[in-house]
Amino acid sequence: MNAPSFDARLDIAAIRAQFPILEQKIRGKDLVFLDSAASAQKPRAVIDAMVGAMETQYANIHRGLHWMSERTTEAYEATRDAAARLLNAGDRHEIVFVRNSTEGINLVAHSYGRGIMKPGQAVVISAMEHHSNIVPWQMLRDAHGTELRVAPINDAGELDMAAYEALFADGKVGLVAITHMSNVLGSYTPAERIIQIAHAHGAKVLLDGSQAVVHRRVDVRALDADFYVFTGHKLYGPTGIGVLYGKRELLEAMPPWMGGGDMISSVTYERSTWARVPHKFEAGTPAIIEGIGLNAAIEWVEGIGYPAIAAHEAALTDHALSRLSAIEGLTVIGRAQDRGGVVSFTLDRAHAHDIATLLDRAGIAVRAGHHCAEPLMHRLGLESTARASFGIYTTPGEIDVLADTLIKVREFFQ
Ligand code: ALA
Repeated sequence: MNAPSFDARLDIAAIRAQFPILEQKIRGKDLVFLDSAASAQKPRAVIDAMVGAMETQYANIHRGLHWMSERTTEAYEATRDAAARLLNAGDRHEIVFVRNSTEGINLVAHSYGRGIMKPGQAVVISAMEHHSNIVPWQMLRDAHGTELRVAPINDAGELDMAAYEALFADGKVGLVAITHMSNVLGSYTPAERIIQIAHAHGAKVLLDGSQAVVHRRVDVRALDADFYVFTGHKLYGPTGIGVLYGKRELLEAMPPWMGGGDMISSVTYERSTWARVPHKFEAGTPAIIEGIGLNAAIEWVEGIGYPAIAAHEAALTDHALSRLSAIEGLTVIGRAQDRGGVVSFTLDRAHAHDIATLLDRAGIAVRAGHHCAEPLMHRLGLESTARASFGIYTTPGEIDVLADTLIKVREFFQ
């Protein structure tokens, strides 16, 4: 493995100084936060944007004609432009605000699944999906008579592309819903090829970008993705706000999902008519402050820039793989060629929860368990793993602390 080369353009100390939470000590020790794949910490810019909105320009949006409502509406709608820019969507109306990726996937499963797909058609997912990209398709299958097919992975944790392509042979696949980056294995999926194959067989594609968008530039138009979802809180933004991108013609053809205020054009007791996209899919008062916070998060990420983010995280991942692989008894789970800063591992026969508890005593936060991906754990023959995941504020020194502490944890178990 090459020696890690940490990107000289990034001043990590200056970046860390923007995260108030990283200043504190946990039980007298520096916090080593290696759980960013579950939820990332928030920079001052996001916190200030949210507090500032509540202190200076808050009212309900899209309804009031008064000054305060107009200012809040502008601030919230600016996030739609930011999200369109982030994903390189062609049109801001292709950005639907949802609570999180899970809600975005459920929206597509409900609206596109039940409204456009026909019973007997199939949905293809992969063997490395999070529960949020499995359960909605099971619910669609049970309610609507679609089939659920699972594209297998190889032992390295990469999608088996020949087996994936074979799933289309009978012409029944209407939709593919696949992660862009595994939250357990760190593997990126070959999104461009996945989409080319699906389109060649007349199927649409939804990519779950919850992890990928944090680490890499995503261009939905270059990919020709039909749907793309991500959540704000993993992208250094708030919880409660996420994005569903959908090609405009698909969103226009899809029926609404939830009914209520803001998603209608007119209502009588006999019938209602729908607002134009994307508002047709945005019933009720949304997460206004969180939406404003997401704009700040997107601008913050853009300010650092994906090339620098990706280079820093690639170097961190190389360093982590090299340090962790050298620990006797430690097995890194997932060895995909194209992978990012999420590293799952087991340590001898120790339970992942025990590993995480001992690491926590040393001030190190990792996640342990099945990571909301039980079928993947079954495929791997495991019940659980410990998982270290990196953010833009993670340092090589923190990975060294993890590795050194894991050596002591192993000694403790022996
Ligand atoms: N999906 C989140 C994770 O992987 C919760 O931790």
